[in-house]
Amino acid sequence: MQTQNPATPVPVAEPCFVPGQVWNDTNGEPINAHGGGLLYHEGVYYWYGEFKIAEPEGNKAQVGVSCYSSSNLYHWGNEGIALPVSEDPHHDLARGCILERPKVLFNRATGKFVMWFHLELLGEGYQSARVGIAVSDSPTGPFAFRESFRPDGAMSRDLTLFVDDDAAAYLFTASEDNRTLHISRLTDDYLQTSGEHTQAFPGRYMEAPAVFRHGGRYWFVGSGCTGWAPNAARSAVADRPFGPWEELDNPCVGPDAETTFSAQSTYVLPVAGRPDTFLFLADRWTPDNPIEGRYVWLPITFTEGRFQIPWRDTWDLNESR
Ligand code: DGJ
Repeated sequence: MQTQNPATPVPVAEPCFVPGQVWNDTNGEPINAHGGGLLYHEGVYYWYGEFKIAEPEGNKAQVGVSCYSSSNLYHWGNEGIALPVSEDPHHDLARGCILERPKVLFNRATGKFVMWFHLELLGEGYQSARVGIAVSDSPTGPFAFRESFRPDGAMSRDLTLFVDDDAAAYLFTASEDNRTLHISRLTDDYLQTSGEHTQAFPGRYMEAPAVFRHGGRYWFVGSGCTGWAPNAARSAVADRPFGPWEELDNPCVGPDAETTFSAQSTYVLPVAGRPDTFLFLADRWTPDNPIEGRYVWLPITFTEGRFQIPWRDTWDLNESR
């Protein structure tokens, strides 16, 4: 029998992000969490996303919202379906509805995990333009569906949630048939909009919003509105979540920067314990076979009065600033 020389170090691959490549979970299966959002809770990151299936109906919700967990952001364990679709064809979440861009917040006051997502009712194409709300006592679910509605009475498609340092939460959503972004403050329990709301970027057709706070300012990244086809990212800065928002230029730098590296934003993650480290999360959609969609995670760097998203073939958290 051959024995290994104990003096010979066994090569161990350092964990890293490989944007745009197949990303397997800890079971060796491709991660299936598209249009996702992340939550950091008690030392663990949770990744919620659209669970896609292969053709022909793969972009419609046939399963529900998936959840993965990780302690280091590189290795993700499958926690299963956090919010399943319903077998009742009259339910708002009837199998075959459109359920996109789930985002989850933890409400400290109520102890509840609250999920918001873009919902299109079964058979209505993209015309219902609603948000859906679901609640759980655990980050991995099961989430119980509560209701769907048009926030502040307005259309709502691509969306994100942002929580400020004072625990005030905001919905940023593509409204008015995507023409204008609407910003709504949520109620203290995060279950509804509060009635305080405003508009931003009128006539700019912004989708795929993501918002983060750095250096005392609020930063926005999003996309134009070209269906599943990629376009150049948009960015903006404000001194308050309600704005006014000053639009900046395309923050992407490197090959394919004009198409957001063939991807579309979905979330910006502030990394716990690293005040200057933010991850840009995007989806490389494959509408002909949605289950093949890939993830593009990149560092965010800050320069005078703006931020950038540089391309990396591979990278790890030690290089991000
Ligand atoms: C782009 C959006 O960002 C996606 O979430 C999805 O709604 C597609 N458009 C549908 O065409």
